[in-house]
Amino acid sequence: MRLPKMSRRDHLRLWGTGATALAGSAAGVLPLSRSKAFGAEPAAMGQESAEVQADRERRMKWWHEARFGMFIHWGLYSVIGQHEWAMEVEGIPVAQYQQLAKHFTPKPHAAREWAKLAKRAGQKYMVMTTKHHEGFCNFESKLTNYCAPKQACGRDLVAEYVEAARAEGLRVGFYYSLMDWHHPDGARCATDEAARVRFVEYTHGLIRELLTQYGKIDILWYDVDWPLNAEQWESEKMNKMVFQLQPDIIVNNRNGLPGDFATPEQHIVASKGGRAWESCMTMNGSWGYQKADKDWKSSETIVGNLTTCAHDTGNYLLNIGPKPDGSVPEDSVRILTEVGEWMDKNGPTIYESEPCKTGWHVYASYTRKGNTLYMHISHWPGETPASKGLEFFNPPSVVAIGGLRAKVKSARLFASGKPVTFEQGDEYVRFTGLPIEAPDYPVTTLAIECDAEPEIDGADVRKNRKREGVGV
Ligand code: GLC
Repeated sequence: MRLPKMSRRDHLRLWGTGATALAGSAAGVLPLSRSKAFGAEPAAMGQESAEVQADRERRMKWWHEARFGMFIHWGLYSVIGQHEWAMEVEGIPVAQYQQLAKHFTPKPHAAREWAKLAKRAGQKYMVMTTKHHEGFCNFESKLTNYCAPKQACGRDLVAEYVEAARAEGLRVGFYYSLMDWHHPDGARCATDEAARVRFVEYTHGLIRELLTQYGKIDILWYDVDWPLNAEQWESEKMNKMVFQLQPDIIVNNRNGLPGDFATPEQHIVASKGGRAWESCMTMNGSWGYQKADKDWKSSETIVGNLTTCAHDTGNYLLNIGPKPDGSVPEDSVRILTEVGEWMDKNGPTIYESEPCKTGWHVYASYTRKGNTLYMHISHWPGETPASKGLEFFNPPSVVAIGGLRAKVKSARLFASGKPVTFEQGDEYVRFTGLPIEAPDYPVTTLAIECDAEPEIDGADVRKNRKREGVGV
């Protein structure tokens, strides 16, 4: 039997705390839905008090408006340049791996380059790995010597990052991996209670350091809770401490508790029931610097992903994997610069977008604010062969929507403000008089002002179209 492809996280869950779930399932069929595999979800929404919900709404407001953030994976693994999982997948012994700390000597204030790039790209917040699975702390710690200031680097890289983000007016997030491949108790804590107590104290202690040493922090982004469950990590206590230290912070769902938002990884899936979500994604196939990976997403794909997230009021956390010296791979700079040029003109159609009840389109996606529909056209339909003989495809560049349940009052090209003529029938609205070549790159936005909240139901067209003309 062919098994579905498993991600590393699926493996971890499977052989960690999720193993019992498999035991009870039909042979060979993984019981782990992808969304389950990427962090804890609430048993049922609506069980929280109004007070708790209001507090979350308050803390999350800026984040919902922001829509777009920068993820940064940077650590000892960057020195190898073969993905941040090199230590495990290549089976590098701890004694060998920790030698990397002698060679991780980035240029001072590399983070300023990232923050400037993020700002140019239209990103409103940053989330940087303070400690990844390798166990190396990029920050000053009293609890371990395995940290940047006490190794060859000799500087607090988290402090530099925080300063850089703030200088550009960006919100500051800390990624923190609970899983630790370096600490002596990092695995045995699962079977040895004394080790668990020590390791949980160490973990809570590092998080405490992170949340007391750098002023106001906006996001705590936990990752991989292998090999313990929420109870063993004492995650309730962990979050309580976090909120005591940082009353305005938001936390994700990867410490075994639902937290404030869900974290679909490498794919875009809206959460159900109005729960906040953020899709995190790499620009090539790797989070940490992977020098051989040239499989870069196009800026068209990135803008498409961003509009897809914004359509469902989700956020998009897009990763860079800086080189060991801290410089950003040239392709990432190129892509983010292109995205930024687009965001300069089209940002208002992304930030603060509202829930959007529109169906599917083949060459566009949508966002909405009030009664205005923003149509993001990725494949510009200029000069179809049909325009040679058919009146309704003329003039030869026509963008059309079927099943729009509102009356269009006006339309314009969003970036230039140029008005667009249109005609509306029962089944369609056609925007005419458009240029043959796409006016914008990589996506052109049409702003369509309606007399009511615009909803689109393509299936409605299928059901209700007047059928005639058989025999033509
Ligand atoms: C996975 C990977 C990890 C990466 C993270 C980002 O958990 O194990 O390397 O940091 O995804 O979401």
